[in-house]
Amino acid sequence: MNNKTGVKILATGSYFPKKVLTNDDLSKMVDTSDEWISTRTGIKSRHIAEKDQPTSELAYQASIDAIKTAGIKPEDIDLILVATITPDMPFPSTACFLQAKLGLTTTPAFDLSAACAGFVYALATAKAFIGSGLYKTVLVVGAEELSKITDWTDRNTCVLFGDGAGAMILTASEDSDNILSVYLGADGASWDLLYMPAGGTSCPITKEVIDNKLNSIKMNGKEVFKAAVTKMVFSAEKALELANKKPEDIDLYIPHQANMRIIDAVAKKVGVTMDKVFVNIHKTGNTSSATTITALDEAIKTGRVKKGDLVELVAFGGGFTWGAAVIRI
Ligand code: ACO
Repeated sequence: MNNKTGVKILATGSYFPKKVLTNDDLSKMVDTSDEWISTRTGIKSRHIAEKDQPTSELAYQASIDAIKTAGIKPEDIDLILVATITPDMPFPSTACFLQAKLGLTTTPAFDLSAACAGFVYALATAKAFIGSGLYKTVLVVGAEELSKITDWTDRNTCVLFGDGAGAMILTASEDSDNILSVYLGADGASWDLLYMPAGGTSCPITKEVIDNKLNSIKMNGKEVFKAAVTKMVFSAEKALELANKKPEDIDLYIPHQANMRIIDAVAKKVGVTMDKVFVNIHKTGNTSSATTITALDEAIKTGRVKKGDLVELVAFGGGFTWGAAVIRI
C-alpha cells in the first residue's frame, strides 16, 4: 500500500462476556476432558455471551473502552467497520447496530466477513480509507459470538470457540504511519474445510436443516491445522518483507489464537522464540476475528508492549482467508 496520508493508532479496547465456561464444564456436556482439550489446543476456558446479548453489544462495550482511552467522542468517528461472521442478523449489519448504540445517526457503517482473518482485513480497509483521504477517523472492531453457531453436541468443534470483541481507533496523521505493512490472501476453493452450511442463500433455514444441525460450524480439523500453519508463516514473512523488517525487529508477535500447537509451529518456522509471542488462548478460546485485537489490547494494558514497539498481527481463517500486519504501537 502506498497511500499518502499516514495512519496513527489512537487507542484499543476489548470486552469479554462475564460468563466463563471451563473445560470441566464442557466435560459434563460432551465426552471430553480438561486433559484432552488442554494438550490438543491450549484452551482452559472461554467466555460465553448471554442469550439476550448480541454481537453488537460486545462490539459496543469494546468500542466504548477504546473511545474512552482515545479521549474522543463517538461523534469524532467518520467510519465504522465491524469484522464478524456472527452478526446480530444477516441484515442490517452489526456495524449499523453498533452505530445506533453509540448514539450516531449518519456515520457510515458496514460489516466485513473474512472469518478469523477479519480484523487484519478490516485494518487494511481502514488504512486504505484513511490513506485515500476519504475518512479521517475510523473505528475498527472484531466481534464474535461463536457460541451461538456452535453445535454443543459436537466435541470436535465445541471445545474450540469463545465469544469476545476488540476495537481500535485509527486516525489520519501527516507525520507518522503506525501501519507499516499489510498483507492479505484468500483461497475460496477450500471453503468446505471450515464453514457453516446453512443460513445463507445456498441453504436457507428449514426444520430439516435445524434437525441436521447444518446451522453450525463444520470443520476438517487436520486440514485446517496444516493450512493455518503454512499460510500464517507465509503471511508473517510477507508482511515483514513489505515493512522492510527482519523477524528480530519485532517486539511482539500476536498470532490468531486458534490453537496453541498452531501458534508453536508458526513461531518455530518464522524463527521466533516464544517469549516474543503473545498468548491468551487459555482463557479466551478461539474468538475468530476478535483474537488479534483483544490480544493486542491486553498486551498494551498489561505493559507487555509500550509506545514505539513494533508488533506483528498474523491471522488465518475460514474462506480460507489469511493475512498479517506490521504495526507500531
Ligand atoms: N475430546 C476428546 N476427544 C476428542 C475431542 C474432544 N473434544 N475431539 C476429538 N476427539 C477425538 C476424536 O474423535 C478422535 O478419536 P478417534 O481416534 O477415536 O476417532 C481423536 O480425538 C483424535 O482426533 P483428531 O481429530 O485426530 O485430533 P487432533 O490431534 O487432530 O486434534 C484438533 C483435533 C484440536 C481439532 C486439531 O485438528 C486442530 O487443532 N485443528 C485446527 C482447528 C482449528 O484451530 N480450528 C479453529 C478454526 S480455524 C482457525 O481459527 C485457524
